[in-house]
Amino acid sequence: MQILNGLELSKTIKKEIKEEVDVMVQQGHRPPHLVAILVGDDGASMTYVNNKIRSCKECGYESTLIKKTSDTTEEELIWLIKGLNADNTVDGFIVQLPLPDHINPDEVLLAISPEKDVDGFTPHSVGLMTLGLPSYKPATPYGILKMLQRYNIETAGKRCVVVGRSNIVGKPIGIMLGQNKSIGNCTVTILNTHTPNIEKYTKEADILIVAVGRPKMIHGDMVKEGVIVFDVGITRVVDESAKGYHLEGDVDFDSVAPKASYITPVPGGVGPMTVTMLLYNTLLARKKSIRR
Ligand code: GUN
Repeated sequence: MQILNGLELSKTIKKEIKEEVDVMVQQGHRPPHLVAILVGDDGASMTYVNNKIRSCKECGYESTLIKKTSDTTEEELIWLIKGLNADNTVDGFIVQLPLPDHINPDEVLLAISPEKDVDGFTPHSVGLMTLGLPSYKPATPYGILKMLQRYNIETAGKRCVVVGRSNIVGKPIGIMLGQNKSIGNCTVTILNTHTPNIEKYTKEADILIVAVGRPKMIHGDMVKEGVIVFDVGITRVVDESAKGYHLEGDVDFDSVAPKASYITPVPGGVGPMTVTMLLYNTLLARKKSIRR
């Protein structure tokens, strides 16, 4: 069994990104600039956004965090987005999800200019990605593709089972791994909350991707020998520690890892790669704006 060390790989890729940014700056260009909008005070979202801003600094990016209170209206948020769309000093921006209930995320995503959609969440980007055309790829699925590529894991002909059909992970990773690309050509099955007997499917998986947010839902007796596992879950579970919680994945690592050929840990697996691929998309956005 080999650990898919997302933390180490993300350090390597961030170093490569930093080298490109240094050259860009030496050539007289400004560095990439990422803006993150956070609405409300959800603890997990704050941690994720702070990680993104910290990683920007590590790579020599400019970054701006815009914090809005949870009573911000949809109109105010869309007005803010339109300002960022028109701001030439901003290469890309993200609106951290989930949003408070009174804001419709579909309307918000529709307002983001596709050119600055470094999360790859707008209908425009999703359409291009689904057609297999060049686009900003959503960071979490992109991170999974990068891990498969850098660990030299063959995907063609493999049976891939995705547990969870969210727009930000399950659906796009299913689409990407089913495409006729160098990392792709899998036979994909996407499970959802209505799927009966999920173990019937998970036991058949050569590649198992779990993105549901239910701690330890996948046990060793639900997978086959040699499975490659990506655990996207990161749920905060309250405990007696000083922090008051610890993070748990959707996969019961202790029972699944002994059967797996490769497996991502939680934390230190998929999470750091998500942040890194967002930075990568922002670098692409900056390079495009330099070429224009
Ligand atoms: N919420 C959970 N994952 C993500 C992500 O990758 N981007 C944004 N904007 N929100 C998220």
